[in-house]
Amino acid sequence: MQQIVIANWKMNPPRLNEAVRLFKNTSQASKKLKHTSVVIATPVSYLYALSKTLKGKGPAFAAQDIFTEVLGAFTGEESATMLKEVGAEYAIVGHSERRAMGENNELISRKVLAAHKAKLIPILCIGESQRDSLGEYLKTIGEQLESGLQYVTGPQVAKTIIAYEPVWAIGAEAKKEATARDIVEVNLYIRRVLTDRIGPNKANSVSILYGGSVSAENISEYVKEAGVNGFLVGRASLLASFTKILEAVDNAK
Ligand code: PGA
Repeated sequence: MQQIVIANWKMNPPRLNEAVRLFKNTSQASKKLKHTSVVIATPVSYLYALSKTLKGKGPAFAAQDIFTEVLGAFTGEESATMLKEVGAEYAIVGHSERRAMGENNELISRKVLAAHKAKLIPILCIGESQRDSLGEYLKTIGEQLESGLQYVTGPQVAKTIIAYEPVWAIGAEAKKEATARDIVEVNLYIRRVLTDRIGPNKANSVSILYGGSVSAENISEYVKEAGVNGFLVGRASLLASFTKILEAVDNAK
């Protein structure tokens, strides 16, 4: 299976010329990859300009969020159709930073449906806030997954990307890094829930990614031992060393 690396720029960088520079560096590195697709989730304000400078084979674009509706009186929102119009092919949905702003499983599941309707590939982010010794966190993850996919059909489930992002491992304030073992367990669990929903063949075709403090330092261990189909990278996707992450993922194949 092709590996996928998603660069989530979040609300960065502050200027368009920096975004262009960052995009060019990532694009150049991505052209050398044989087994890895690169997707850049830019702020909406840069999406059109960057997708227009993209010629030939290079990274694809993702929106960092979408709204549930297609058109109408929804001040401040962006629809999946509009985002597709300006160059997005993917959409991150349910990122923990959006959940922290109040998004719940119901809203997120309608966004997953909206993405599919507009023919954007949703990247559904799920992950527990903390771990406990009784395995309650798996319940949280299962609920987020089942609920997030509740309105879409089996074939649409098979075309959804799942990103496991434990909240405790995300961002500069992360308490600690996830170990490859932490990821393996949840990866298997997600695959099992998907198998119950759409059967083993289709479930095996779903890309399951890991995200949370992925860096040039820990990527080799994750690539070797975590057993995922790719990564969602935040902070490290803004650094020159992001190319090292891309190479490590690609070389593992
Ligand atoms: P991080 O962010 O790599 O900076 O931890 C990952 C994410 O939030 O997707």
